[in-house]
Amino acid sequence: MIAIGCDHGGFALKNAIKHYLEEHNIPYRDFGCMTEESVNYGPIAAAVAHSIANGESERGILCCGTGIGMSIAANKVKGIRASVCTNEFCTEMTRRHNDSNILCLGGRVIDEEMAVKLTDIYLNTPFDGGRHAVRVQQITQIENGEM
Ligand code: RB5
Repeated sequence: MIAIGCDHGGFALKNAIKHYLEEHNIPYRDFGCMTEESVNYGPIAAAVAHSIANGESERGILCCGTGIGMSIAANKVKGIRASVCTNEFCTEMTRRHNDSNILCLGGRVIDEEMAVKLTDIYLNTPFDGGRHAVRVQQITQIENGEM
């Protein structure tokens, strides 16, 4: 299951991503928003992040104007590694090296075509593990106040 969410700034990108997920028969849960009316991104970021933290969803995609507010908010939830990406290289590397579990995109930064391209890379790139697993584990230690 892929958890998706947006605010008004990311609404168009989320719709394009939904279309991609439907085309590829990838199950998803949409945590809103459902119109282009202005909304606060915090509650939506929290809902998507908790869906991953509690095991309901494997990964998430959050869209706002820049991707930044969503990422800052989502990263406050334990176990979340949310990454703002604007290009193919960072998207591939944040999966391979950081085992990122939420992709954050900006509707005022990239277009719908790029959002779909980055979604495809994000969902199809595995974590490299090895030395990167040690580094990701250290992030968890920081989160737990052990470092
Ligand atoms: C909304 O205007 C905008 O602040 C929001 O979408 C996001 O870019 C915040 O980081």
